Parts: sequence; structure tokens; C-alpha cells
Amino acid sequence: MKAWTLDSLGSPLTVSDVADPQLREGSAVVRMLSAQIPAYTRALTTGDRGGLALPTVLGIGGICRVEAVADDVHSVRPGEIAAITGFLASGRIAEPEEVLLGWTGIGGRGRETATTSCMRRVWRTGTFAEQAILPGSTLVALPGAEKYPDVARLAFLPWLAVAASALERSGASAGDRIAIIGASGQLGGAATLLALARGAGVVAAVGRNTASLDRLAALDRRVRAVRSVGDRRNDAAAITDALGGDADVVIDALGPTPTPDLTMAGFDVARVDGTIVLLGGVRQDLPIPYGELMRRRLTLAGSWMASNQTVYRVWRQIESGVVDLGPLDVSHVGLDDVEGALTAAEATTGLGFVALVP
Ligand SMILES: NC(=O)c1ccc[n+]([C@@H]2O[C@H](COP(=O)([O-])OP(=O)(O)OC[C@H]3O[C@@H](n4cnc5c(N)ncnc54)[C@H](OP(=O)(O)O)[C@@H]3O)[C@@H](O)[C@H]2O)c1
Repeated sequence: MKAWTLDSLGSPLTVSDVADPQLREGSAVVRMLSAQIPAYTRALTTGDRGGLALPTVLGIGGICRVEAVADDVHSVRPGEIAAITGFLASGRIAEPEEVLLGWTGIGGRGRETATTSCMRRVWRTGTFAEQAILPGSTLVALPGAEKYPDVARLAFLPWLAVAASALERSGASAGDRIAIIGASGQLGGAATLLALARGAGVVAAVGRNTASLDRLAALDRRVRAVRSVGDRRNDAAAITDALGGDADVVIDALGPTPTPDLTMAGFDVARVDGTIVLLGGVRQDLPIPYGELMRRRLTLAGSWMASNQTVYRVWRQIESGVVDLGPLDVSHVGLDDVEGALTAAEATTGLGFVALVP
């Protein structure tokens, strides 16, 4: 089969002929139908976003048709459409360990251990390919998905589930004032869709890219675009203005930023008893005053990836039309032109994404 393989960080991502995956215990073999190519995929291949277990078929997440299932796997059945999470957990409750397959990312303290190395060695598998072999626990059956009219659009489901997980952790309720910092990115765009689906009263969509913010504002009259001016005090004031008061919930979905200022603007606007969830890829330390966190009784939470239950819940929201994928701007690419695909993906923001349809 054809697959995009990466041999070492900084080497080109290449279309290769690799052996068809062979079913083994604990696995399912799937045919890829679509996979989102995140905007930062090229940066990831250079090592800019952390280490990877290499060489590997690259790619995380996607939508597939299940072809064959080992006797000990019962999460999916042959012929079904399923979502691939790429999120593998050790299952050990005392010291949980988690890794992403075909991608960068080790959970918890982010350190490689004998367990995480073993998990990534045994499952050296990504989704930018015609087929993949995956652990049964990373597959979520999507009953009814065979009737969904546009499988490329559905490739956004794993990304939506990651954003949904942050909203679930925030405890956001209908009517809440929600600030999404970095709403102009793909994860922030996903968080905006989910916040609306959860019944947010008003959403401040904060970012820099005007076109992306305009697209979010066009989604619903509850969305107010806030263009960041790069100054903490002014950004915080603009967010409070847009929300009509302090935020019940702040979701930070920023990519790597040179300062923590925009995240801290989010901290500044959280109301007493409010919740801040960190979802993005900021690599700055946050200067959080102990007294303020304590007196405002703030909850500060982290959110990494999504449980299979969340993936399934988001599928139900899509299937029922509570989450409408119609406003997404989806471009399709095949496996043949890696360079063109990475360039197209790099140019996407917010509600736009590139779907690999092998
Ligand atoms: N927690 C998890 O489970 C999880 C899962 C997947 C990804 N992530 C992380 O989430 C982050 C966001 O992903 P994404 O795909 O949404 O990335 P993205 O599309 O590149 O979006 C990044 C966002 O950050 C903003 N931004 C970037 N640099 C900035 C700067 N210097 N100042 C102000 N804003 C800046 C962008 O604003 P403009 O576009 O308006 O400039 C955009 O809103 C990534 O870093 C990724 O590592 C986390």
C-alpha cells in the first residue's frame, strides 16, 4: 500500500510503498477514508513540535472502514465506519501512561519511559496511508456514519472531540459567557462550534487572523470576534466588552506564542468561580498570582486528547445536526503529492482544513 513515511526528523515526508498491514492480536486492519492534515504537520516533521518514534507512517486520527478484526477485539466490527483516535493508553490505573500513535505526544509529564517506548514500538502506525493497523482501543464505531454524506468533512471529528473534551472539563452550561483564546486556529474553531452546540449564551472568539474570525462570527449571532492587539490589558478589556461581563469559562487553544500574555488575558477575564481550561500548545510558564487564583476561587484545568466516550458523543451531535459541519471549508488531497498537501494544510486556519482522502 501507499503511505506517507518519515524516517528522521527534518527528512522529507515521502510517499512510500510499504507492506500491507497484517492482522495480529489486539488489532484491527482498516481502510482509510479520510484524515485531517493539521496545519502544523510540516512543523511537526522538522521536530519543532517534539519527538516522534521513527521511522513511522505519519498521521493521527481519521475516519476508516474496518476491514478485519482480531478475535480479541470487540470495539469495532468488519464493515463498520469508525473514528480513529490515535490515543493509546497503557490501561494501568496506578500510573497511567498515554501516547499518540503516528504523531508527537506523550501524556502525563511528557517523558519517555520503558512503557511509552514499548507502546510506540509495537504500534508504529499512522493514518496518512491507504490502510492502517490499529489497537482496538483506539477505534470508536460510528453507527449510522455510512449514511453521512461527506466522509472528508467527518475527518474533523477527532479534532472536534479534543475540543469537546476541554468544554466538558470546563462544566460549561447553557447561557454561559465563554471566551475562546486562539479561536482563529483549528482547535479554537472546533471549540467555538462545540461551545455553540452546548448552548453558550455568548462566545468571544479571540485571535489575530481577521478572515478566520469573520468566518466564526458568521456562524451565529452569539459569536463576537475579538481581534487581539497583542497587549494583555487591552485584549482582556476587549474580551470583557464582547462578552458583556467576565467569562464563566475560558478555553485557551493557542499555538506556541512568544509570551504568555494572551493566555493571561484569558486568566484576567475569568469571573469569580470561573473555569479556565488549557488546551493549546503554549510553551510558556504562566505568572499566576496565588492570591487571585484563591480569592476568585478559579478552577484551572488542563485537557489533553479525548476519551472514546467523548468521540462518540461528538459523533451523536454531528449525526443529529446539533453540530453542523456545513460551515467547514474542506479541501481534498490524495496521497500522491505530499509537498502540495503540506503546503495547502499550512495555509488553513480556523474552520478550514485539508482532508487526505487516499
Ligand atoms: N490539548 C490537546 O489535546 C491538543 C490536541 C491537539 C493539538 N493541541 C495543540 O493545540 C495548539 C493549537 O492547534 P491548532 O491546530 O488550532 O493550531 P493552529 O491552527 O496553528 O492555531 C494556533 C492558534 O494560535 C494563535 N497564535 C499562534 N501564534 C500566536 C501568537 N504569536 N500570538 C497570538 N496568537 C497566536 C493563532 O492565531 P492566528 O491564526 O489568528 O494568528 C491560532 O488562533 C497546537 O499548538 C497543538 O499542539 C493540543
